[in-house]
Amino acid sequence: MSLNFFLAFLLAFSFVQSQELSPTKIFLLAGQSNMAGRGGVNNDTWNMLIPPESTPSPFILRLSLNKTWVVAHEPLHKDIDSTKVCGVGPGMPFAHEILAEDPNFGVIGLVPCAIGGTNITQWAKGSNNYRHLVERADASLRSGGKIEALLWYQGESDTQDQTDANMYKERLYNFFTNIRSDLNCPNLPIIQVALASGYNPTLEEIVRAVQLENDLPNLQTVDAKGLPLEGDRLHLSTPAQVQLGKMLADAFLNNFPKPIQ
Ligand SMILES: *[C@@H]1O[C@H](CO)[C@@H](O)[C@H](O)[C@H]1NC(C)=O
Ligand SMILES: *[C@@H]1O[C@H](CO)[C@@H](O)[C@H](O)[C@H]1NC(C)=O
Ligand SMILES: *[C@@H]1O[C@H](CO)[C@@H](O)[C@H](O)[C@H]1NC(C)=O
Repeated sequence: MSLNFFLAFLLAFSFVQSQELSPTKIFLLAGQSNMAGRGGVNNDTWNMLIPPESTPSPFILRLSLNKTWVVAHEPLHKDIDSTKVCGVGPGMPFAHEILAEDPNFGVIGLVPCAIGGTNITQWAKGSNNYRHLVERADASLRSGGKIEALLWYQGESDTQDQTDANMYKERLYNFFTNIRSDLNCPNLPIIQVALASGYNPTLEEIVRAVQLENDLPNLQTVDAKGLPLEGDRLHLSTPAQVQLGKMLADAFLNNFPKPIQ
């Protein structure tokens, strides 16, 4: 077998593979640790307990680090937020709830991009996180499909310093506006999560007020306050992530109706 023939075979094979695994509805997941998922993580160890709402399904794919689609399984961000111990996050329960409410929704593609411990400045246009988000979003479209929304859960790291909290709205809205523009999707639906936790209660309220104020078009907020936390008092527990995933799904289905066919 000649080398060229072999390469052609490889190409054809990967083409067939990518044809098999390609989503029709794509969601970007970004932010910090609670989007990446720390459910079931204590003392830097994940308990490996996967709730029914987070089990793999042939209708739920994830864009892996190497930008190929694979059947999604927890921890969804394992190869993305790779310097931390990842656990259960909101992505899988979100996708399961969408499919439960709308069985004809289509194959869902999740694009994990969240990085633990990042402040909003580290997501500004020009940053590595921003560039990776745009690159992964672009890659997610190569096999077809459409980006339906950005799910965003971030801000805990901006509750440590008064100036960061005061600047949160300007920095957040710049990020949202820039990412919509760079994805060529000026009306991209965004669903953000209002913080359940933070480092300083006063500054957490400043950030939460920005998140709950919610005054950009096509921006929705779900409030994670009150959901159960892990022992670190910072990270949502596995049951909390399941509930959050359902809240995100409801916010999407209730606020961003299907285009008229
Ligand atoms: C984590 O470690 C602390 C201190 O060693 C211990 O008290 C706690 O029980 C541990 N938590 C879990 C969930 O293992
Ligand atoms: C890409 O990553 C996925 C998941 O980690 C793996 O299964 C697959 O073999 C990788 N593909 C390539 C071409 O490296
Ligand atoms: C954001 O995080 C980076 C990295 O930890 C840090 O250098 C920076 O001071 C933080 N705050 C701002 C406003 O950039």
